[in-house]
Amino acid sequence: MTALLDIQALRGGYGRTEVLRGVDLKVNAGEMVALLGSNGAGKSTLNKTVCGLCAAWSGTVRFDGRDLSGAHYREVVKAGLIQVPEGRKVFPNLSVLENLELGAFTRARERRAQNLERVFATFPRLAERRGQHAGTMSGGEQQMLAIGRGLMAEPVLLILDEPSLGLSPLLVEEMFALIRKLRDDGLAVLLVEQNVGQSLEIADRAYVLENGAVRFSGAPDQLLASDELRRAYLGL
Ligand SMILES: Nc1ncnc2c1ncn2[C@@H]1O[C@H](COP(=O)(O)OP(=O)(O)O)[C@@H](O)[C@H]1O
Ligand SMILES: [Mg+2]
Repeated sequence: MTALLDIQALRGGYGRTEVLRGVDLKVNAGEMVALLGSNGAGKSTLNKTVCGLCAAWSGTVRFDGRDLSGAHYREVVKAGLIQVPEGRKVFPNLSVLENLELGAFTRARERRAQNLERVFATFPRLAERRGQHAGTMSGGEQQMLAIGRGLMAEPVLLILDEPSLGLSPLLVEEMFALIRKLRDDGLAVLLVEQNVGQSLEIADRAYVLENGAVRFSGAPDQLLASDELRRAYLGL
């Protein structure tokens, strides 16, 4: 089976500083893949490089039958590879509705109205607050908005970069339930998380990135079953 996302030997970084040291990673259609690793391991840099927001030095990124190596982020979005970046990054001075509409700027514009209804059905709170400035929403609501904005583009693969970061325990539960539901609805998800236990519970497969390289890839059970791996990479 050809993978939906197939990253091979990807290298990249900032200026002359190498961060990604030859990363191989695959996500299959409909699969939930957890990308774990300590702070500074290179997870966000990997996302940014795959999405065309950071330059790839070498290696290949294939997605949905296309070669997206070195592609502009607009082409990446058009292909249906949608990233919800770390730290939410909603437009604070725009309303909830305007933020959502921007999600359909590059892709699925003609189905904006239907998708808006779907997002409002998934996040009733966003519907209630459609006129509110995004910057005045709570952290959890902004995270929901960021995900809703991603869904407006009809993702084929959704990359979520630390969606539970900074949320209260209750909201973390809610967030994981939502992510599970997206996957159950058939969406492929690459989930970057510090919340290792909960991520491994819902993931089909996992990768551990350490110092810009993949140190483990396999089934969540396999990762959790090894004391050595748990201690070395998960702090469990
Ligand atoms: N914009 C940037 N400019 C320079 N270095 C960066 C930048 N963003 C991240 N880095 C560095 O790249 C490395 C990987 O960071 P990052 O990809 O954010 O890790 P993670 O998401 O796994 O915590 C770190 O050493 C970090 O300091
Ligand atoms: Mg990060």
